[in-house]
Amino acid sequence: MKNLFAVILCSLLMLSNSEAQKVEDFDSIQLYTLTNSEGMQVKVTNYGAIITSIMVPDRDGQLGDIALGYHHVENYINAVDKPYFGAIVGRYGNRIAKGEFDLDGETYSLAVNNKPNHLHGGVIGFDKVVWDAKLTKGPHWQGIELSYLAKDKEEGYPGNLKITVTYQLTDANELRVEYDATTDKATPVNLTQHTYFNLKGEGEGTILDHELMINATRYTPVDSVLIPTGELASVEGTPFDFTSAKAIGRDVSKENQQLEYGLGYDHNFVLDRDDDGLVLAARVHEPTSGRIMEIHTTEPGIQFYCGNFLDGRLVGKSGKAYVHRGGFCLETQHYPDSPNQPDFPSTILRPGKAYETTTVFKFSAK
Ligand code: GLA
Repeated sequence: MKNLFAVILCSLLMLSNSEAQKVEDFDSIQLYTLTNSEGMQVKVTNYGAIITSIMVPDRDGQLGDIALGYHHVENYINAVDKPYFGAIVGRYGNRIAKGEFDLDGETYSLAVNNKPNHLHGGVIGFDKVVWDAKLTKGPHWQGIELSYLAKDKEEGYPGNLKITVTYQLTDANELRVEYDATTDKATPVNLTQHTYFNLKGEGEGTILDHELMINATRYTPVDSVLIPTGELASVEGTPFDFTSAKAIGRDVSKENQQLEYGLGYDHNFVLDRDDDGLVLAARVHEPTSGRIMEIHTTEPGIQFYCGNFLDGRLVGKSGKAYVHRGGFCLETQHYPDSPNQPDFPSTILRPGKAYETTTVFKFSAK
């Protein structure tokens, strides 16, 4: 099983030059499995630090894979429309307007890979590189530590950025994700996890009946190209009010300019919090399986994306097509375009300072 992802020669031939330059050491791509005492299982590859599978019990104890993804690494490398299934996204998750920002008197230009903006770290973001991996273990958890050095000027960003992402699967059915980074030059950093969930099971239809609560009384409305206007708007009386749990599909088709811009939900919510620690960000309940996922994070925001770009063309690991809204992402993060928005919490990491964030996904069923 470990070497499943090593069969990738043909994908090498299919890569563009720039991608082939980046993915140099194909033999080092591996698939790792974390397990816990409750039967949960999480699979991770060091290509893109991608979570390829999350097996979670339903209310009858039946395990189901709730993470969308592929069986072979070729599919991740060559995926049409780059859905970022399961990956760590960076150096800057989400959008930077026009691929430009000023920092310490210099203007930096980044790839415009989501016209007219920069998205998810560029052409070869952290989802498209091979990370170093080391399995770790504690008394009540199994983990994997993934490290990557993003070089100065890589994808146009300043500074050599050393990143470590640790996934820990605990016996309390929690998947903890810890992010650490340091730099030798000031740089924006915004790392997130881009798993698409379907708590019914990957490939089991849409997620529109999932009941979602987001702990946010405000969100960041966007312009027509999904760049925040700068306003922190109240969700009250809008389709963006998830302060009490409601089905994702309840308001998604309502007439609303923000939903038109996003083609559905594809928005950052401003988490309600009193202090800097871990706070409940969201809770999702899927009524037929009874599965529940709770997300706690130290981040100030969460991007809720309801799989608007899925259209049935991508076929997942068990041979089922991923239909429109067949998965959702809840990406804990800083707000989009923060490097250009002085009123948003800063995403600038400076030498001598540590970037440290934690997000915990907790699973249960009722
Ligand atoms: C994020 C973005 C979306 C989309 C998805 C991946 O959620 O906000 O617009 O890019 O990633 O398709």
